[in-house]
Amino acid sequence: MTPFTIKNLIIPHRLVLAPLCSITNKPFRLICKSFGAGLVFNQMVSAKALVMRDQKSLGMLDFDEVERPIGMQLFGNSAETLAQAAEIVQATGCDVIDLNLGCPARKIINDGGGSKLATDQAKLKHVLTAMRKKIVGPFTIKLRAGWNDKDLSAVTIAKMAQDLGVDAITIHGRTTAQGYRSVSRWEFITEIKQAVQIPVIGNGDVKTASDAYAMMQETGCDAVMTGRAAFHAPWIFRDFIDGNDQVPSPQQIEGMIFTHYDLAKKYYGDAQGIKLMRKFICSYTKGLRDGAKLRNDLVRLTDWAIIEKIIRGFFGGAPMAHSG
Ligand SMILES: Cc1cc2nc3c(=O)[nH]c(=O)nc-3n(C[C@H](O)[C@H](O)[C@H](O)COP(=O)(O)O)c2cc1C
Repeated sequence: MTPFTIKNLIIPHRLVLAPLCSITNKPFRLICKSFGAGLVFNQMVSAKALVMRDQKSLGMLDFDEVERPIGMQLFGNSAETLAQAAEIVQATGCDVIDLNLGCPARKIINDGGGSKLATDQAKLKHVLTAMRKKIVGPFTIKLRAGWNDKDLSAVTIAKMAQDLGVDAITIHGRTTAQGYRSVSRWEFITEIKQAVQIPVIGNGDVKTASDAYAMMQETGCDAVMTGRAAFHAPWIFRDFIDGNDQVPSPQQIEGMIFTHYDLAKKYYGDAQGIKLMRKFICSYTKGLRDGAKLRNDLVRLTDWAIIEKIIRGFFGGAPMAHSG
């Protein structure tokens, strides 16, 4: 387990939790931390909404001291708004502020944010300059390989970002046109790593701790960011620290679900917590025998006592295989 640094921030190890919209909220980040996650990212938050003092968005910035080091990610389309929002985020005392330059969602790109902002380099230059002026600590960007295979701009953007004082770059080896289809092409990560001196965090299709080590080996990247694998199996951080891929026992997964529910209830209340947990239970039980039936049984249930009984029955049975 070797640390790495972004600007002056020391991060205990090299597997980073990706920002995942509606997933990497406080309860889930705390679950990841319980498995030893190092740097964790909040889900993306709208710069415009923060500047307009939208209470829900401001609430999304909440974090616990135990979550450090923690990064907050902003999305938006205006230099002025993003810089103002960066000041609001900075006031929370979080450790890293990241700009989303990779989101492919229609709603975001139609508004000129996410990966669309990366297609306008003149505008992006203004954005990065304005944000850098306000951000005192580590400032990072997260981008894709390009808009499509004919417009692969990541290396140019990475160099520009470095020149403008950005402290680290996360690169997802897919283009916007790819969405989440096909594969993350790790060769783009290698290209960026060779083009800049600031830390490069590779991202895309890391499903296990072994994959994370393979990505660092293959691309030379300084750290690896994992998203969907952590959503399915947050113990990936423990595996990364231990250096081997392990399969948790059904009882460990069951225990994690109950811990997660307690956190979800604590921070969001019972009704919202249950709604959230249905999503996580589905993800945690993916690949388990009879998991599909369990997920079907849970649809629309709103009483935790009933859900708990079903889960206890499910995990109380014979040991089951997990696809990891
Ligand atoms: C449900 C979902 C939500 C996501 N939300 C965000 C987000 O808020 N900000 C961001 O930069 N990327 C977001 N991403 C992209 C991930 O951070 C990551 O780049 C992508 O999933 C590839 O990594 P993976 O193969 O490890 O999942 C999201 C992806 C998914 C599947």
